Amino acid sequence: MSQKLIKDNIKIYKGHIMFTESPEKFNILENGFIIVEDNKVKKVASELPEEYKDIPVKDFGNKIIIPGFVDLHLHAPQFPNAGLGLDKELLPWLEEYTFPEEAKYKDTDYARKVYSRVVEELWKNGTTRSVIFASVHKESTALLFDLLVKAGLGAYVGKVNMDRNCPDFIREDTQESLKATREYLEAHVGKSELVKPIITPRFVPTCTVEVLEELGKMAKEFNVPIQSHLSENTGEVEWVKELHPEHKNYASVYDCYSLFGQKPTVMAHCIYNTEDEVGLMKDNEVYVAHCPHSNLNLSSGIMPVRYFLDKGVNVGLGSDISGGHKIGIPSVMAVAAQVSKIKWLETNKELAPLSTPEVFYLGTKGGGKFFGKVGSFEEGYEFDALVIDDSNFFGDDLTLEERIQRFIYLGDDRNIVERYVAGNKVEKPSF
Ligand code: GUN
Ligand code: FE
Repeated sequence: MSQKLIKDNIKIYKGHIMFTESPEKFNILENGFIIVEDNKVKKVASELPEEYKDIPVKDFGNKIIIPGFVDLHLHAPQFPNAGLGLDKELLPWLEEYTFPEEAKYKDTDYARKVYSRVVEELWKNGTTRSVIFASVHKESTALLFDLLVKAGLGAYVGKVNMDRNCPDFIREDTQESLKATREYLEAHVGKSELVKPIITPRFVPTCTVEVLEELGKMAKEFNVPIQSHLSENTGEVEWVKELHPEHKNYASVYDCYSLFGQKPTVMAHCIYNTEDEVGLMKDNEVYVAHCPHSNLNLSSGIMPVRYFLDKGVNVGLGSDISGGHKIGIPSVMAVAAQVSKIKWLETNKELAPLSTPEVFYLGTKGGGKFFGKVGSFEEGYEFDALVIDDSNFFGDDLTLEERIQRFIYLGDDRNIVERYVAGNKVEKPSF
């Protein structure tokens, strides 16, 4: 009896195992074993160690087992807008497309319809963890939170704050905004192991100093992380300069109000940061969500990822739905590699392009670090995994590294046959 109980917390999976402990290269185990104990990776091994010999093995044959994907930045309420209005730049796009769509989430029936679909899409595309902006509406945000819990996916979900420089139909009263945020935090901190709240000032131009200051205090009081946008567009950067001449730069506005690494922080985009700002991000361990689809769509620019990596800043990938039009992280990996090549040419070959293991790292362990030990199969990591069947592609004499390259560029949700989050197999959500 006691022996069986001990074994029940051990699961063994066999297949071709690929992950990136460091960005330089893939860790590859051909026909290897992953031993999962108490929902965490105990070890990966080429041969099954003697002590596990009488435990059943789930054998995936020629399929590839990889860590689940991490999306460090997306806007759930913008999902119905994916692929729309992308011939505009950031600020007119927000006014014409984004704010009117987000205003609809006052209606929780509408929110339930869209958010059920968003959660299903995350599941389908193998995004096992994500960092999500909801809208300003507390009830709809709570609804999204509960749908993610029900689905068994990992996420941070934020109620957006915006109380200036936006249309009346979406602008919050300052005190109402703070009150709703406090209520959201009170109701959701500690509610779930996998889904957690996050402080979410939209960006400096739409938040008064009072909101920023109080949100910084709430992040400390409730011990929750922070997400926002930083230096995405040249017009936006100029606007912040006009709004805040008292600050040295855009990043120091967040920093001044304890919203820049005082608690774990992720900033989306970071295309136009100065050396000082990048230094501050490194010192404060701020994460950057690199969102290349969005940056191309909204003519924002190309983030110098190599520069940030060389400086030791944490970088992960974001779909930025709906600035980005694709929710699947493999597609974001591919475009991150592509734009890094243009950056390389633009900089006289100074900033080297990102390799395949590097973009894979960014979309797994790079962003996964924001969640703790997530995104790798090293000992002690939460077992978040995807099983990839690439047998639909032509040609079968490829190396495992080539097969993963091909999946990143050509694959989609149809190649993902099983998904695991924190040790549990996650089935298609049924709401
Ligand atoms: N900056 C402020 N809000 C947004 C948003 O919704 N999307 C993007 N891409 N940038 C923003
Ligand atoms: Fe965004």
